[in-house]
Amino acid sequence: MFKSKADVLLGLTWGDEGKGKLIDIYGSLYHWIVRFQGGPNAGHTVIRNINGRTEVVVLHTIPSSILNEHTKNLIAGNVLINPIDLRKEIEELRDKRLSDVKNLYISNKVQLILPTHKLLDLALEQRRGKNAIGTTGRGIGPAYADKTSRAGLRIGWYTDKQSFNKKVQILAEEHLKLVDLYGFGYDIQTLERQMQEWMDALEFLSSIPKVDCTHVLHSALQSGHKVLVEGAQGTLLDCDMGSYPFVTSCNTTTGGVCAALGLPPQAIGKVIGVFKAYTTRVGRGPFLTKILDIELANKIVQEGSEFGSTTGRKRDPGWIDIPALKYAIAINGVTDLILMKSDVLSGLPVKLCIGYKEDPEKIYLSSQDYEEGAIIPLYEDMASWGDMKNVTEFSELPKEFKIYINRIEELLNVKIKGVSIGKDRTEYIERVPVLI
Ligand code: IMO
Ligand code: MG
Repeated sequence: MFKSKADVLLGLTWGDEGKGKLIDIYGSLYHWIVRFQGGPNAGHTVIRNINGRTEVVVLHTIPSSILNEHTKNLIAGNVLINPIDLRKEIEELRDKRLSDVKNLYISNKVQLILPTHKLLDLALEQRRGKNAIGTTGRGIGPAYADKTSRAGLRIGWYTDKQSFNKKVQILAEEHLKLVDLYGFGYDIQTLERQMQEWMDALEFLSSIPKVDCTHVLHSALQSGHKVLVEGAQGTLLDCDMGSYPFVTSCNTTTGGVCAALGLPPQAIGKVIGVFKAYTTRVGRGPFLTKILDIELANKIVQEGSEFGSTTGRKRDPGWIDIPALKYAIAINGVTDLILMKSDVLSGLPVKLCIGYKEDPEKIYLSSQDYEEGAIIPLYEDMASWGDMKNVTEFSELPKEFKIYINRIEELLNVKIKGVSIGKDRTEYIERVPVLI
């Protein structure tokens, strides 16, 4: 019998909702933070003020509570690790003396991304031409494809180095056959160097404990320990539920948590859904509420630093899409909402998409339904709000902003329990305790 439940925190849109900041804030209240999917395609930013200096850490594979030294951070088996990327993340944390990373654990089921997975990702994108997905180029699609086609490599297999090396060689050769078939050029010497760097990085990771993730979590919940599951990407990038084919290659939603961690549905507690005061999307795919006013879009991009923390690409901004959020809340079973980046819209005109003209009751449309210009969003104009700097209490927030969030709550029928009003972790207001 479990004495506690695992809470889940995930993005409700197309990623970059501010999940990293929240996991950093709430992480110290949990015994375990568990990243359940995705890989180095994610970029979770944690900002800390340490001895008067602002430290910005972008985490790709490491759970975002790593700076909370008393919290254990676990990378679950459904996460993809590229040892080269993970080694860099660990070394950066150590070099900056932000963490000794002694609170990091890796599931022995983790699947590995090879340098040739990255090549294959780029080759496939090139081959798709104008139908390219706009992937992060981190090898995510090919590595998940290898996992499901049962060709992938688990990190736990590295204990038998001889047979492991053989498996690496066979898989890399298979990838290169495809890369050649697709006519994608690469430099063989660079690749050989990367393969060596990859092997060295894997050896470097030997010092990080490999665990049976499911056993660890069952024991934790049986002892009444607190577990928070960290999502990457967002609901609309879910491979089954998102805007397919413009999605990532795994399940990013609550349903995926049980499968990834080996937890029964009854073990799931709160589901905290994170979204921004506006929406962004990076990569290709339908985006109904995209802001077409270039000047306004640029202002939001600049003010919100909306550049990919993994690829540096500019993200497109758009308005909140209530039908899409209703859909995300429904499929994830969201119990609590948190609104991020409210300060970014200060002083700007604000619109809220409350439905679609064709069918105001519709809660979301599959991407096949999106013909360019065929679906027309219905907008409500919201009053613009002023500066939020130095606000510490919910009651002090601009009244126009409170009207905005009340309207969103009314439409979504779920409480917004916290609002972020700036980049720093102190610039966050809990309106109602999230963890009770
Ligand atoms: P975090 O965790 C935003 C997008 C890519 C592309 C699509 C598929 O920081 O929110 P992939 O490389 O996964 O095959 O790319 O998914 N994408 C993200 N967009 N935030 C992310 O992560 C993303 N991870 C992948 O831009 O459209
Ligand atoms: Mg991100």
